[in-house]
Amino acid sequence: MSSTALDGALGLIREVPDFPEPGVLFRDISPVLADPAAFRVLVDAMAAGLPAGTDAVVAIEARGFILGAAIAYASGLGLVCVRKPGKLPAVRHRVSYALEYGTATLELPEDTIRAGQRVAIVDDVLATGGTVAATRELVEHAGGIVTGVSVILELAFLKGRDRVPGVDVTALVTT
Ligand code: PRP
Repeated sequence: MSSTALDGALGLIREVPDFPEPGVLFRDISPVLADPAAFRVLVDAMAAGLPAGTDAVVAIEARGFILGAAIAYASGLGLVCVRKPGKLPAVRHRVSYALEYGTATLELPEDTIRAGQRVAIVDDVLATGGTVAATRELVEHAGGIVTGVSVILELAFLKGRDRVPGVDVTALVTT
């Protein structure tokens, strides 16, 4: 895979000012997903970067599902989908965490992560890090080990990686 192809794919990320609220610059990956070559090069890059010894992918609702499913399939790994509340019939564990205004909750399905299993967390964007930190807590509560976090885009100024100390965070692009 050429870095030019990857750069081209990443160049398709659209920046949308003032969404979902004034002052926020939203990064929209929709154009990347809609482009077959860009989607493939991006998934291949994330799959190639999974830490050695990873034996499952944990994907975060909702955009993380799109990437996580493709990466898991490409890597011959199973997929664990961490969900927002009210979607799962059987919840192993749930974690609530603070947002700028209010709280959010994520849930881990029953019978997905085994004790000692080595999993990589996949999402589209790392911002404040609250989402991946909560997901790490879910994994570790089930006895799993987080081998790394893989995202397309890291908003470094929000220092999200500081919320997952000791975990290797890989981003295709950092801004
Ligand atoms: C976005 C993004 C990450 C999370 C990152 O998800 O997809 O999951 O925010 O933010 P953080 O690092 O500050 O926690 P969002 O809640 O918008 O959900 P969606 O994927 O369902 O749109």
